Amino acid sequence: MDPNTSGLEQKLAEAGQSHLLQFWKELSPKEQQNLFQELQGLDFQEINGFFKNAMETSSNSKHEKMDGRMEPVPRDVLGSVTRDRESLKDWEVKGLDCISQSKVAVLLLAGGQGTRLGVSYPKGMYNVGLPSHKTLFQIQAERIVKLQQLAEQKTSVKCCIPWYIMTSGRTMDSTKDFFSQHQYFGLGKDNVVFFQQGMLPAMDYGGKIILENKGKLSMAPDGNGGLYRALGNQGILDDMQRRGVEFIHVYCVDNILVKVADPTFIGFCVQKGADCGAKVVEKTNPTEAVGVVCKVDGLYQVVEYSEITLATAEKRSSDGRLMFNAGNVANHFFSFSFLRDVVQKYEPQLQHHVAQKKIPCVNAEGQLIKPEKPNGIKMEKFVFDIFQFAKTFVVYEVLREDEFSPLKNADTQDGKDTPTTARHALMSLHHRWVLNAGGHFIDENGRRVPAIPRDGAGGTDDNLKDGTDLPIKCEISPLVSYAGEGLEALVKGREFQATLMIDERGVHELVKNGV
Ligand code: UTP
Repeated sequence: MDPNTSGLEQKLAEAGQSHLLQFWKELSPKEQQNLFQELQGLDFQEINGFFKNAMETSSNSKHEKMDGRMEPVPRDVLGSVTRDRESLKDWEVKGLDCISQSKVAVLLLAGGQGTRLGVSYPKGMYNVGLPSHKTLFQIQAERIVKLQQLAEQKTSVKCCIPWYIMTSGRTMDSTKDFFSQHQYFGLGKDNVVFFQQGMLPAMDYGGKIILENKGKLSMAPDGNGGLYRALGNQGILDDMQRRGVEFIHVYCVDNILVKVADPTFIGFCVQKGADCGAKVVEKTNPTEAVGVVCKVDGLYQVVEYSEITLATAEKRSSDGRLMFNAGNVANHFFSFSFLRDVVQKYEPQLQHHVAQKKIPCVNAEGQLIKPEKPNGIKMEKFVFDIFQFAKTFVVYEVLREDEFSPLKNADTQDGKDTPTTARHALMSLHHRWVLNAGGHFIDENGRRVPAIPRDGAGGTDDNLKDGTDLPIKCEISPLVSYAGEGLEALVKGREFQATLMIDERGVHELVKNGV
């Protein structure tokens, strides 16, 4: 474990990273061993190459706006839950058919650090304060259980939706323990497959790797596009092939409304013969900082708000909608053969993106610093970077209020994408399911709560802000209903007082029963 005799010192010198050993003599034997192992595991020439390419691409793109090269998604590759109502049933049947033949897998991106939410455990273990106290992982697992049942009911054939969960070095152990403690939420242990994405060091602007403390590098996951490398080197593609998986639904852990393995989306993509598909929500506000799916020089990609001018962001089509309105929500369909090609052929062509960050570090004098402004970069690939390689790319537009409410930030007053907004979004969806199935809500005086709330009596932004009145507290277990189906027998013609919970044990009104 001598950096000199082992050749490590020379390897670092050749890569211009000798400073990583500057505190070596001050470290305890254990710390020396850890640092030695960490450094031995890294390919510094490769990391330096990533840095050079990422910085070049980033500085080129700063000077060049995309506007002139962009085209919106053409209507013939677009499916829409509002504009193609007549096709939805067919797509759903097709998707359920694929699921029932065990051809569909889901893949969860859960390797992020969740820095904005600020908890020390993986985001999927977060409980947003629903009446059931379910975590994001549990909600998603139960949706898979239910969907397997729905597909089985249709065909009387037992099927399985394998769940691949990408974690990172920081989240792997706690994620696995959590699933094991909860008996995999009713899914077979063998059908929940964990794998780990890669990590990369943070660098300063001159390409020097940053030390987090005297004996440790500052490492971070290599972005959700780290997926493709991990799929190959962790044997996940082989596992998919062994199981006969043909279609994969990829999504992010933080969306509380996610329709995991959504049969309608899958059926749409399969019927269109797509190798790659993106679910989108309509961007309605030109200045909303969301990436849009569009064509650039004839190839599909996601263009960030910062890459276009306001004039382009504000452009409208003849129907009055924004011209570039396909808001990306990191929710994708891939065929297995496309994914295999990406892993085997295209992944090395993907460039890292540069994210400027405030990175805690140790300075040359050995003091720990918490910088007030960005002092370096993290390098990340994005899951959507591969759209450009698709031969048949499709886009599927869904309603934001039904399918997208991400958990990004901790609760603050007026906060966006917080535990409160996620909880409200889910309860409000479930409230609508009850109404659609013929149920009603009454207030504490026995009066029916209007389906469309009166001004000042709930549903307005003011009410949501102060946390009173709305949304009506209503939660339906995914084990009872995947997407609002099957509720008539439970709620039709009945009146409920919130909090209403419907789960596999029945219908419960928590207030009335004093629970
Ligand atoms: P975000 O980019 O929102 O990051 O991830 P995050 O880790 O959740 O939160 P911040 O930015 O640190 O506050 C979007 C999705 O991509 C996954 C996340 O777990 C989330 O599902 N992700 C992100 C990865 O799987 N790996 C990564 O390296 C980064």
